[in-house]
Amino acid sequence: KDRYVVIGNPIAHSKSPLIHAAFAAQTGQQMDYQHLLAPLDGFAASVNAFRAQGGLGANVTVPFKLEACALATRLTPRAAAAGAVNTLQFSDTQILGDNTDGIGLVTDIVRNAGVTLHGKRILLLGAGGAARGAVLPLLEQLPAELVIANRTVARARELQQLATARMPAVPVSAYGIEAVPGHFDVVINATSASLQDAVPALPAGALDARTLAYDMMYGTQPTAFLRFAAQHGAQCRDGLGMLVEQAAEAFALWRGVRPDTAGVLQQLRAGLQ
Ligand code: ATR
Repeated sequence: KDRYVVIGNPIAHSKSPLIHAAFAAQTGQQMDYQHLLAPLDGFAASVNAFRAQGGLGANVTVPFKLEACALATRLTPRAAAAGAVNTLQFSDTQILGDNTDGIGLVTDIVRNAGVTLHGKRILLLGAGGAARGAVLPLLEQLPAELVIANRTVARARELQQLATARMPAVPVSAYGIEAVPGHFDVVINATSASLQDAVPALPAGALDARTLAYDMMYGTQPTAFLRFAAQHGAQCRDGLGMLVEQAAEAFALWRGVRPDTAGVLQQLRAGLQ
């Protein structure tokens, strides 16, 4: 069987092996997909050892996405734009690095939630790795405007400059979270505030019943951000669909077949309850 892994630290909690096993069964692909725990100082060594054993590809998760970007010998444009890699594909001569997180997010919003991004006002909260991965795929949907807001405004400005250089057609601006102007059709939380059960301090009126509020995180309970958004009547969606869609994109890159994601998402959702 063709071998793949998801590499991270910690890694035991990852649902990726479950997701890829379901995709493989559904599409009749002969593949084996396991967890691989890499030491914090041993990412490259772990990848090289797996590759030497005949591994064909890997997903990469926290905290190795930047190292994976450095290790790749070739990057897809969206990985180069993100400066982070979540998917590696090995061949004899090269390591291809891709980033399927952002396209996974967009697919989950547009196709699964049925919310178009074209012509909309989008607010992206955060300027770390998760936000960076999302910027180019979001801009490719040609929203009316993208506002990037971060606790540390300087990081939002850096990301704004990157975004504008790649996609000058869409206006992109940067603010502190408490200072974002106006109302948004879509608000995406790409901060890690949910890990501390904290809500980014949005001004009143930024979101309401017309808004889709999306948190890249997920869990058995709604995140603090989604609870806040629900209080304001927003349509709420967590990051479970993004997880499944980024996996589908990696699977399609590796295997050349696109799995159907709806059943797998339903199955994972049931497993969370
Ligand atoms: P990731 O790769 O998950 O994006 P990261 O690069 O450490 O992780 O970035 C974390 C993001 O969450 C940053 O945008 C961070 O804001 P700062 O740049 O100001 O640090 C944001 N963040 C973390 N905790 C937060 C909180 N309690 N409230 C608001 N933003 C928070």
